[in-house]
Amino acid sequence: MKGPHHIPNTKGKGRPIPKTLKTNKPIRKINGRVIFGFFCVAMNSPHPCDPHAPAFTSFEYLCFSITQTTQPFPHQSDPKYNPLSSLFFPYFFLLWWPYQQTLSIDAKLSEKTMEECKCSEDSCECELQMSRLMKSESVRNLHELIEKECGAVERTACQTAAGRALWKHVIHDPVAEILAGETYLRNLYGKMKKDRLNKAREIAGVMLAVRTLWFDSRLEAALRCFEGESQVVLLGAGMDARVYRLTCLKGCTVFEVDLPKVLELKVALLQEAATTTTQGERQPLTFHAKTLCHVPSDLTKKDWFDSLISSGFVPQHNTVWILEGILYYLHDLNAREVLRLISEKCQGSTILLADFMNECSTNLPHELKSNFHFYSDWPEELLPTLGYSQVKVSQIGDSDANFGLLMDPHNCFNKLREVPRYMNMDADGMPCRRLYLVQAIVDQTTSRS
Ligand SMILES: C[S@@+](CC[C@H](N)C(=O)[O-])C[C@H]1O[C@@H](n2cnc3c(N)ncnc32)[C@H](O)[C@@H]1O
Repeated sequence: MKGPHHIPNTKGKGRPIPKTLKTNKPIRKINGRVIFGFFCVAMNSPHPCDPHAPAFTSFEYLCFSITQTTQPFPHQSDPKYNPLSSLFFPYFFLLWWPYQQTLSIDAKLSEKTMEECKCSEDSCECELQMSRLMKSESVRNLHELIEKECGAVERTACQTAAGRALWKHVIHDPVAEILAGETYLRNLYGKMKKDRLNKAREIAGVMLAVRTLWFDSRLEAALRCFEGESQVVLLGAGMDARVYRLTCLKGCTVFEVDLPKVLELKVALLQEAATTTTQGERQPLTFHAKTLCHVPSDLTKKDWFDSLISSGFVPQHNTVWILEGILYYLHDLNAREVLRLISEKCQGSTILLADFMNECSTNLPHELKSNFHFYSDWPEELLPTLGYSQVKVSQIGDSDANFGLLMDPHNCFNKLREVPRYMNMDADGMPCRRLYLVQAIVDQTTSRS
């Protein structure tokens, strides 16, 4: 008895099934079985999957070949074989022709999809895949509220979360997607896809990814140096989810400071992530810190540090301050005041991690242009005037700030690093827009208020 991949010819010898009929696609199997079942009924033939089937017709044999099941079939010489079945061949071809056409259209379509998929490396899939949770009404409503009730600067929190969600092959953030929301995910995803198709040297979002990884690594190193109680303060925390990402926060009290609306909506979204079930399963959220305190405050107001203390911050404890993507949204005076307050009030070992834009970066021809204010071209000169010492400045792309994501020597970040920092224009007359990643410690020798 021959296998189903061979069709008996009139002499009873097998020949290979035509390639066009060979398909493993489940949808085609279903089509084949539906059609096959229909004809079995129409011709009053038994179904070959029926163990009591007395005989199989040639027609069934062919149909079954299309569906590629592994059921054995009787040969012409088999007593079960019904010679009248060959009469049904014309009917089969009537059916087979349009079916074969759908197969080849389908094959062409999948070739096209494969072409489009050539852009898909790492996290950039052909189409944006979102969890079912993202489609839930409550999550959608919360993101609508963010659009309605938050200003442009507050909404940047969703943009950076989208970066973490879409660079998931290097940043594991279990809640980035839900905190980002569909609009920001689609927006960044579109840019990433375009960059990949254009074979760009740097893919949209890479700077965010590198920045986040730099803060993560410096935070971890700083906490390793501390002994005793440690605190971590995130100013302009936005949709940051380090408490769910970083095991190094174990034993730390974490304070997230941001504007009240942002924190309120963040809590609501996190509640959705924790309580909603996705395909019957709860989101696996592991909280790594000892405690998390939300401090709803405006950093441009004088009382934000008092609010932090009322929330449990102890100035005498060792603290890492994370100012990621916040300073340049403040006006010069406010930004300096924030930096000065930290150095004046903190009495334990205190490490500052912050990113600074240079002046050219705040002049972006961009919809965010008007939101960028504070800048510093020389943070290593500014920070000592505000009570800090041991200032280390890195640029995106430096050996401690590329994480294997910016290896192409000709990408814009690496080219920029070759232009001396005092220059505002590169050799092509393009403005040198830089983002400095800065670590400093509070100089405990400076006088305190
Ligand atoms: C670009 S987001 C950065 C969020 C987060 N640090 C990250 O990297 O994902 C900027 C954040 O700063 C917050 N922010 C801006 N101005 C602020 C202010 N005056 N007081 C408190 N937070 C502020 C915004 O609400 C927003 O969440």
